Amino acid sequence: MPIRSNHEPTSSEITPETLYVDRRTFLAAAGAIGAGAVAALGGMPSLVAAQQPQEPQAVGKPYGLQPDDKPTPWEDVTTYNNFYEFGTDKGDPSQNAKNFKTRPWTVRVDGLVNKPADYQLEDFLKPSVVEDRIYRHRCVEAWSMVIPWRGIPLADMIRRAEPNSKAKFVEFTTLMDPKQMPGERSGVLPWPYTEGLRLDEAQNPLALLAVGVYGRVLPNQNGAPLRLVLPWKYGFKSIKSIVRIRLTDAMPKTAWNQAAANEYGFYSNVNPTVDHPRWSQATERRIGEFFKRKTLMFNGYAEQVASMYTGMDLRKNF
Ligand code: MTE
Repeated sequence: MPIRSNHEPTSSEITPETLYVDRRTFLAAAGAIGAGAVAALGGMPSLVAAQQPQEPQAVGKPYGLQPDDKPTPWEDVTTYNNFYEFGTDKGDPSQNAKNFKTRPWTVRVDGLVNKPADYQLEDFLKPSVVEDRIYRHRCVEAWSMVIPWRGIPLADMIRRAEPNSKAKFVEFTTLMDPKQMPGERSGVLPWPYTEGLRLDEAQNPLALLAVGVYGRVLPNQNGAPLRLVLPWKYGFKSIKSIVRIRLTDAMPKTAWNQAAANEYGFYSNVNPTVDHPRWSQATERRIGEFFKRKTLMFNGYAEQVASMYTGMDLRKNF
C-alpha cells in the first residue's frame, strides 16, 4: 500500500469482545427465529452466553492449509488490520471502529440481474449455508495470516440474484459514511472503497462473504457486518463493510487500481513470480513468526483457481 506503517499493535489496543455466540447457539437461534437470526448475532441476551472463553478457539474446515500453518492468534487478527476508512496504521481500525454502527444494514444486489433486491443482513444468513472455514490470508504488503472465517459462499448470493446473460463482472462497494468513517474525510483513497471480480471468480466456491471470525461476530475492524474473503488474491480485494453488489458488463473500477494503477492490478492474484514495483512478492512474513516464508502461487489455492486463468499472461494481468 502506498502508505507505510511501522505501527505494531500493543496489548492495550485489543478491543474487548463482549459477545460470544457459539455456532450451535447461533444455529439453534437462527433456526428457531428464522429471519430474526441477526438478532442473535446482534446480541439477544437469552441466546448468547454471557461469558467468553479466554482465548477464542479457531473453528472450521481447513482449506488449502500447509502442514506448518496454524491459525494466527485472535489478538493479531483483530488488532493488525488494514481498513483505511478508520485510519492508515495497523492499530487504527481496532481503535477507531469501536462505535461503528452495523445494524440495521442493507445490502443492495442489482445491475444485470433478473432479481435485484435490497437484503437485510439476516435475509441471507440462513443457518444451512453459514460455514466455518480456515483460510490462508496474504496481504499485498508481504505479510500473511491464517484466519478462521465464518460466512456464506458468495456464489449462493449471486445465484439468488439470477445474473442475466450480459453480466460479466461483479462490483462491490463499501459504505460511504464520512461521519462514521474518518478516513473517508481524507484523500488517501478514492471513496467509497470499491472492488471487482470477474463473474466466474465471484462464483468460485472459495469466495466467501464473511460475517464472523473465530466463531464470533465479525469485529468492526475486520469489516463488519459483511466482508469479502478471497484467499487466492491479495488481501485488498477482500473488501469490507459491503453495501452494494452490482453485476456489470464492464470491468469495474477498483479503489487501489485508481489510486496506483501500476502497483495494483485488477486481478491481484497472489503470485510470487510477479513483484510489486516497490518490493518482492517471493516471500512473506507470517504475523507472529520471525523467519520469512516462501509465498505460494495463488497463495496455495492453485488447484481450485488456476483453471480460471488458463491462457492469460499473469505478468500483464497482475
Ligand atoms: N476494505 C475496505 N473497505 N477498506 C480497506 O482499507 N483494506 C484491505 C481489505 N479490505 C480495506 C478493505 C486490505 S489491504 C486487507 S490486507 C484486508 O482488508 C485486511 O483484512 P483484515 O483486517 O481482516 O486482515
